[in-house]
Amino acid sequence: MDSWNLSAIENAPSLRRHLSDLPGAFADQRAYAAALKAGDPLVYTVSAIEPASGEGQLHYALGVLMPGKVGAEFFLTRGHFHAWRAAAEVYVGLRGEGSLLLEDEQTGASRLVPLVPNQVAYVPGHTAHRTINTGRERLVYLGIYPAGAGHDYGAMAERNFRQVVVEQGGGAVLMDRVSFLKSLHPKP
Ligand code: F6R
Ligand code: ZN
Repeated sequence: MDSWNLSAIENAPSLRRHLSDLPGAFADQRAYAAALKAGDPLVYTVSAIEPASGEGQLHYALGVLMPGKVGAEFFLTRGHFHAWRAAAEVYVGLRGEGSLLLEDEQTGASRLVPLVPNQVAYVPGHTAHRTINTGRERLVYLGIYPAGAGHDYGAMAERNFRQVVVEQGGGAVLMDRVSFLKSLHPKP
């Protein structure tokens, strides 16, 4: 039976996403442009392990999401539905402090689930999911999903998640995207 050392795969990620790879992911476009001007930091890496494919098989991925913000919004992953919509996923927090933002495809209802060490979070099928680092250290987690789950980034890229997670008064707050944008540029 194959086994993988998590710190070894963390050091050999299969995917690296920099800030420039995330256009449209953050709500505050002005803050995004300003952050890009100041550099193009690495936002997260994903090390996917795909031992076998086919019915009944599982894949898993180690995600490492850096601490940081664009404007008031915490660093986040792009976010996706599974291409196979019914496929669920289990997340396990390993290090750091963050949350999973879930959005039901049918109802549009959002939920923020803690993603912290030794805690398991369940992502049901038909649910868009995005990871958010609300802490000061790297957020490290495992996602375990059916081998046939796939990723559909298009649907969320078009309209983005309805809610944002922003820093307010030193804490992390879930807020409606439109209200957040209005608070940035209040009408005179
Ligand atoms: C796999 C999964 C995670 C994410 C990872 C990066 O189904 O949910 O492994 O792929 O957190 O996020 P995305 O893929 O949205 O860039
Ligand atoms: Zn997923």
